[in-house]
Amino acid sequence: MKIVKVKNNEELSEKATELFVHALSRLEKPVIGLATGSTPERMYEKLTEKCQAGDVSFKNAVTFNLDEYAGLTAGNPNSYRFYMDEKLFNHVDIQKENTHLPNGLADDLQKECKIFDDSITKEGNLDFLVLGIGLNGHIGFNEPGTSFDSRTHVVELTESTREVNSRFFDSLDKVPTEALTMGLGTIMEAKEIMLLVQGDKKAEILKKVLHGEITEEVPASILQRHPNTTIITDVTL
Ligand code: GLP
Repeated sequence: MKIVKVKNNEELSEKATELFVHALSRLEKPVIGLATGSTPERMYEKLTEKCQAGDVSFKNAVTFNLDEYAGLTAGNPNSYRFYMDEKLFNHVDIQKENTHLPNGLADDLQKECKIFDDSITKEGNLDFLVLGIGLNGHIGFNEPGTSFDSRTHVVELTESTREVNSRFFDSLDKVPTEALTMGLGTIMEAKEIMLLVQGDKKAEILKKVLHGEITEEVPASILQRHPNTTIITDVTL
């Protein structure tokens, strides 16, 4: 794993934008994996600026988001579909039909996971994947204990993740208990991964990911086995 150490979120977003633009520009039909959360917000702003300035185009890009809550409508400001539309898709030249998120409202969630995973395979897997990390080491919504071989699946969110994410909701009981997430096996098939880790509260988990045992108890530790992962971080190591 390559580590790029930066000073703050602004520098992190700049570096992340650089790598993202490189991936978008070098491929004829880039297949990109996307993350939500606070960490990549500024990167999405920068990508929007670049696209509007004509420096980069999403015209031929196909995107797959890592995860989505179960049970939230696309119009719910806490759904990841809403987040992506607001922060990126509505402002760039991407074709909306090429943007994919697992459908958390599908009647049959298991079937939806299979359809989602198969579509990624059909596109020849992800060329470039943006990841964030949860305090417990989750990537996407792959909570500790998730199998390294997992494909896109339905998860029950841990209480700690629901509490951390409740900052976006009116109250804790409004946070869904389930979500759909790309699996760790699906994630590991991405040709290039960029993991963004922001803020010293993530120092402890980042140290485990970098130097700890590769274990399903720390989902992101699997990245030690990935041949092309760059970690961009402002964490004091
Ligand atoms: C959420 C998302 C993850 C994200 C993580 C970190 O739980 N499901 O995909 O990486 O939180 O978010 P943040 O960047 O806000 O710390």
